[in-house]
Amino acid sequence: MHTLTVDLGERSYPIHIGPGLLRRVGEWLAAAISGRRALMVTHPNIDELYGEILRDGLIAAGFAVAIHRVPQGEASKCLDEFMGIQDALFAFGADRGTAVVALGGGVIGDLAGFAASAYMRGVPYVQVPTTLLSQVDSSVGGKTAINHPGAKNIIGAFYQPMMVVADTETLRTLERRELLAGLAEVVKYGVIWDADLFARLEADLAALLALDPQVLAPVIHRCCAIKAEVVAQDEREGGLRAILNFGHTFGHAVEALSGYGTVLHGEAVAMGMVAAARLAERLALCPAGLAERIRALLARAGLLTEYPRLPRTEFLATIGHDKKALGGKPRYVLPREMGRVEVRADVDEAVVLAVAGIT
Ligand SMILES: NC(=O)c1ccc[n+]([C@@H]2O[C@H](COP(=O)([O-])OP(=O)(O)OC[C@H]3O[C@@H](n4cnc5c(N)ncnc54)[C@H](O)[C@@H]3O)[C@@H](O)[C@H]2O)c1
Ligand SMILES: [Zn+2]
Repeated sequence: MHTLTVDLGERSYPIHIGPGLLRRVGEWLAAAISGRRALMVTHPNIDELYGEILRDGLIAAGFAVAIHRVPQGEASKCLDEFMGIQDALFAFGADRGTAVVALGGGVIGDLAGFAASAYMRGVPYVQVPTTLLSQVDSSVGGKTAINHPGAKNIIGAFYQPMMVVADTETLRTLERRELLAGLAEVVKYGVIWDADLFARLEADLAALLALDPQVLAPVIHRCCAIKAEVVAQDEREGGLRAILNFGHTFGHAVEALSGYGTVLHGEAVAMGMVAAARLAERLALCPAGLAERIRALLARAGLLTEYPRLPRTEFLATIGHDKKALGGKPRYVLPREMGRVEVRADVDEAVVLAVAGIT
């Protein structure tokens, strides 16, 4: 097992990573809080796969447990499901010492975390992420949210969990496509922060995708450590945290213009990272060949890497070049070399369009 700490003063918390950890959540939670009630929030399919083992561990540690199930899918990050969790907590007789245990991917983590932040102005919550994306990204950092019909993630809170427990065995049941989408974020950490991680991914890609425990847990650990370090330096996204958006400006346009749900977030980020690296090369910010190195790794994994043809006006509006876009100038996270990026707001629109293949 690998353990690291997200260092946020009195809100610091541990992340445990490794195989077979679901059963241990109960004992760790019992040691961390005085309350002995826990509301598990999960999807029906995940409950069927992993609910019992998590629940048994909680009960063995002395918890009274209730389960609240929400439908799978991004649409569950909504006010109705948020309210459903409030109702479940209320019906359970929850008090300030009652824990919310989020068992699932980023949808469950974001929704249950936001619900936990609001009930009685905040009850403890635990993240038990079960997708690669949530194990390396959404479960770390304290961002919780639901969606507004007009925009993703704009109703939320910064709210840190008591702990994160990433059981790597759960990834065995994850669909390949979801695994690869998570891999895109893993590759991102290599490019923005850690050239050695990137080289390790190049060397051990097959073992990683086969979920070889010797490779998987250390890689997830490294990703969490990078995110934890970035978040510890910039908890509320004032500066450094922006580097985590590498590939996301271009990626966001792909997601938005393909219709949300058609392309998975990580799939869009994969295309976006290649585009951003090509942009950096065109601006002579990084050595030639960097974009190809990133592209080759993603393609070997089975991700699509060519930027799709998007309509000019909508593309510009989505990435924020549009004058009406909030916040004015779009910012690009651009690699300077493998493992180091820079945030730039002064990028010429014509070069951006050329890189995106829009003439
Ligand atoms: N808070 C943050 O910092 C942050 C960061 C990145 C993404 N997010 C959010 O995360 C969400 C995406 O998360 P995601 O990619 O984990 O998607 P998800 O939570 O929708 O999970 C993807 C699918 O996999 C299924 N699934 C989950 N675990 C499984 C398992 N072990 N076995 C079989 N099936 C399993 C789910 O039922 C779901 O259908 C988005 O809403 C995004 O906005 C948040
Ligand atoms: Zn992302």
